[in-house]
Amino acid sequence: MQIRIAPSMIESDLAHLSDAIAEVERGGADVLHVDVADAHFVPNIMCGPDITKAIADCATVPVNVHLMMTDPVRYAPAFARAGAHSILFHVEAVADLAGAIRAIRELGVGVGIALKPATPPESIEAAVGELDCLMAMTVEPGFGGQPFMESGCRKIPALREAFGESIDIYVDGGINTETAPVAVRYGANVLVAGKAVFHADVPPIEAVKRLRRAAAAGLDKGIRPK
Ligand code: DX5
Ligand code: ZN
Repeated sequence: MQIRIAPSMIESDLAHLSDAIAEVERGGADVLHVDVADAHFVPNIMCGPDITKAIADCATVPVNVHLMMTDPVRYAPAFARAGAHSILFHVEAVADLAGAIRAIRELGVGVGIALKPATPPESIEAAVGELDCLMAMTVEPGFGGQPFMESGCRKIPALREAFGESIDIYVDGGINTETAPVAVRYGANVLVAGKAVFHADVPPIEAVKRLRRAAAAGLDKGIRPK
């Protein structure tokens, strides 16, 4: 399993976005994570297509957009045009799961579903074989800097089993050098990190490398909790 590190760009110094992107890419970031919040699905406002485009224009690695919004199908095209490589929407936000997957797939981007910490894996059973990525949230969506909820990881073994080894399973929320190995042991392979990259006691370039080392140590332990 290949571990990928995905810095959460909204946590960077937005006045110097291009510098932040260049630095985390030099540190080995594999994906840039962009959080979008609509003040309805979550009580916060973050990042529209314009900032996404600014990030995508500077990036040399893929851009992953996390839509924390009530109407992802309506707004996904703007994020695809902005340069998103993959788009995650929340299962809790859509009534017609198959229709949402189809609509986003037609945009020519990778399609993924995000699950809040308490949302069970059975809620996306119907999507087996239809997705490029999944996301287990380990905080309630909406804000960076919250503490890691291990309970959000407990569904990962079931998701891994149902969706297979090749799908990317993201974890998002409270990931740091302590919690990255825990998430990896549950079977996650893409680690989103905001605070632990951009507000750490080392510069972001070092923080990305350090997270990767911590995650690899989790992988070495090799035992997946059920
Ligand atoms: C939470 C967001 C996360 C968040 C991660 O609503 O989806 O991507 O920015 O930040 P940290 O790593 O600080 O929890
Ligand atoms: Zn996110």
